Amino acid sequence: MTEVIRVDPGAPDAAALARAADCLRRGGLVAFPTETVYGLGVHALDRAAVRRLFEAKGRPATDPLIVHVTSLEELPTLVAAVPESVVRLADRFWPGPLTVVLPRSVRVPDEVTAGLHTVAIRIPAHPVAHALIAAAGVPVAAPSANLFSRPSPTRASHVLDDLAGRIDLVVDGGPTPVGVESTVLDLTGQVPTILRPGAVSLQMLRAILPEVEQRSPRQPVSGAMPSPGMLDRHYSPRAALTVYEADAVARLAHDACASAAQGHRIGVIAADEDRQALNELARFADRVAIVYLGSERDLATVASRLYASMRELDAAGVDRILARSFHGDDGLADAIRDRLRRAGVAPDA
Ligand code: TXA
Ligand code: MG
Repeated sequence: MTEVIRVDPGAPDAAALARAADCLRRGGLVAFPTETVYGLGVHALDRAAVRRLFEAKGRPATDPLIVHVTSLEELPTLVAAVPESVVRLADRFWPGPLTVVLPRSVRVPDEVTAGLHTVAIRIPAHPVAHALIAAAGVPVAAPSANLFSRPSPTRASHVLDDLAGRIDLVVDGGPTPVGVESTVLDLTGQVPTILRPGAVSLQMLRAILPEVEQRSPRQPVSGAMPSPGMLDRHYSPRAALTVYEADAVARLAHDACASAAQGHRIGVIAADEDRQALNELARFADRVAIVYLGSERDLATVASRLYASMRELDAAGVDRILARSFHGDDGLADAIRDRLRRAGVAPDA
């Protein structure tokens, strides 16, 4: 049985969190909200518990975890050295949706790092995540709290859909505000490199570290295995998802109509501005479900609803999802395009 504890996201009840923290300390699996997505937490220094976490998610042991802490003072026990660049990044972006990869200390189990000599670290900003980790008093390894390759959960109900009966506890703190996972910045190479785009953008990072580069999507990681966040098909709904460029909504509407006319059940992920272009789909109201994510000028709202829209359309039983992409050059725009690309296939593929 998976227990659910509901808390106020802004001011979580200390007694409720103390129980969840105790469960973590004793090796339990506890899902909790962060500002990005729900994480599935486990005592990072408890090898057996970390192995149970991989089992619960169905996650390959080659996919390393992010270790969550509440202050910079905890870093020296987890990493080989704390570079001055991390102190400057922390000053600006922590707590927040940034993860840094550093050479690990010997205390971090191989199970957490997938045998790599590096470890990913983040200080989350969500009051529930912060209070829970502080109460546990241990570093908390936490991947997103979904079954492997499913969209990340942005609500407690998503966690339960995937993991009910497989984990001990869910701390329900409502929907997660950002909606896409943290920016992952690798600081172990010659050039600091973004491995996964997120709300903390390339431009924002360059303001602190001018030499930061963005890894291009298909460029292999030097050395060991690619960051599994780079797996091409990932974060996917069950229905096959096709991504259209932001300026190809007319083509999306045309393809959706053609597919619906053949009897397929179609899901569409769109922006508020697309209502007119999608008008012709009204003819197939019994076969077409459309989710409007928000205005294309409000990417914060779009990002916060993106994963929920994929799960909603899966639940509606559609066979195919047609999603439009989004313009923009900030971190969220990059992150939205990245997650859509990995959830889907190109229209011509
Ligand atoms: O926002 C987030 O980052 C959420 C919340 C819960 O904090 N967590 C999350 O974890 O998205 P996960 O496990 O779903 O994704 C972690 C990403 C993966 O792409 C993984 O490959 C990468 O971080 N990663 C972890 N350790 C790494 C390492 N040592 N070197 C390179 N990449 C690493
Ligand atoms: Mg994940």
